[in-house]
Amino acid sequence: MTGIGELLRLMAKSCRGRNRHARNTLKEHGLLTIVDNTFLTPYLQQPLNLGADIVIHSATKYLGGHSDVLAGLVVTKAPALSKQIGYLQNALSPILAPEAANLARRGNETLSLRMDREQENALAIAQHLEAC
Ligand SMILES: Cc1ncc(COP(=O)(O)O)c(C=O)c1O
Repeated sequence: MTGIGELLRLMAKSCRGRNRHARNTLKEHGLLTIVDNTFLTPYLQQPLNLGADIVIHSATKYLGGHSDVLAGLVVTKAPALSKQIGYLQNALSPILAPEAANLARRGNETLSLRMDREQENALAIAQHLEAC
């Protein structure tokens, strides 16, 4: 493993420990864990599977992928929260127009390709900088 790889591994381990501690503290106080997963996207991280109560995404960025759609989403798998979010959605009407929904759907088709390429590029830059 490279120096950068080892550093990232240690950072991820440290974050996992801190996240678990933070989640437990929130639960003790009856608070929700809400994660903004905009930049990792569901392709690289699924916060609901890591214990988050609610996940939010700006679909304007990686999910849309082409800078031509303004959208976002709120995700939960807790039925009670889902009902509350559904109520707000109905009351406030933040519904995507069909064309915007189609652009977000189109972006999703290339998400894995774009994220893989981005990681390859980031790694290449990190390795280049490490060698300097
Ligand atoms: C991490 C993150 N989440 C959410 C948002 C909000 O995104 P939007 O511009 O689609 O409302 C931003 C905007 O920069 C962001 O950086």
